[in-house]
Amino acid sequence: VEKFFDSKDALTAELSTTLEQRLVSGIEADGRAVLMVSGGSSPAPAYKHLSNLALDWEKIDVAMVDERWVDVAHEKSNEAFIKSTLLQNHGAAANFITMKNNAETAQQGSAECEAAYQQLKRPFDVTILGMGPDGHTASLFPHAGGLQQGLETSQLVCAINAIESEVTGNITERMTLTLAAIAQSKVVKLLISGEEKLAVYKAAKAGGDVNDMPLRAVLNHPTINIEVYWAP
Ligand code: 6PG
Repeated sequence: VEKFFDSKDALTAELSTTLEQRLVSGIEADGRAVLMVSGGSSPAPAYKHLSNLALDWEKIDVAMVDERWVDVAHEKSNEAFIKSTLLQNHGAAANFITMKNNAETAQQGSAECEAAYQQLKRPFDVTILGMGPDGHTASLFPHAGGLQQGLETSQLVCAINAIESEVTGNITERMTLTLAAIAQSKVVKLLISGEEKLAVYKAAKAGGDVNDMPLRAVLNHPTINIEVYWAP
């Protein structure tokens, strides 16, 4: 499914409604709902909208799709972003599962995350993904150290050495949901903004080497139920 909106506001309105419905029906069906969240600018307004809703927050598990191996106080920490948007009103009530634990390396950290993520209800109700201009999604970055593991393992979480073309070409340690974990979602919402990223998305959809554009692995996966949301 591809949805093209006229504006970011229209995307936010639809995304907010569908996330609310997914969480409510997850709780109705299973007693709990699991929401996998990405950083990025696209989902922020919907997160803020949801944070104001009187949902059964104590029955909602919120977990990170990916995280940089930085302190949670760091300006680029996805956890800090989620806590200041989605969880700004309900931080205590929602069960937040951090990717940034007290381990010493992303490798050790991802092993700890694995245990925590294995406890979550599956399939996850919703996984929100973004896409970078290099065709990365989650922290499955092109030609990153650990990318093969991320695409092939049956584990839910793995460590990645990502080359951040969006920033300076720096290599940063990260943790990410694996392709196998993304596939264990009732629905994946892929959020894309602007003409430039639309062209990248189309190039990924057209096929080619997943190492060049890991988003291809998600788009071409046989069982992932993906809904693409685009706004200018
Ligand atoms: C990162 C970024 C990145 C971001 C996408 C989408 O971890 O490097 O958070 O993955 O999610 O680039 O960003 P937008 O939502 O701003 O399009």
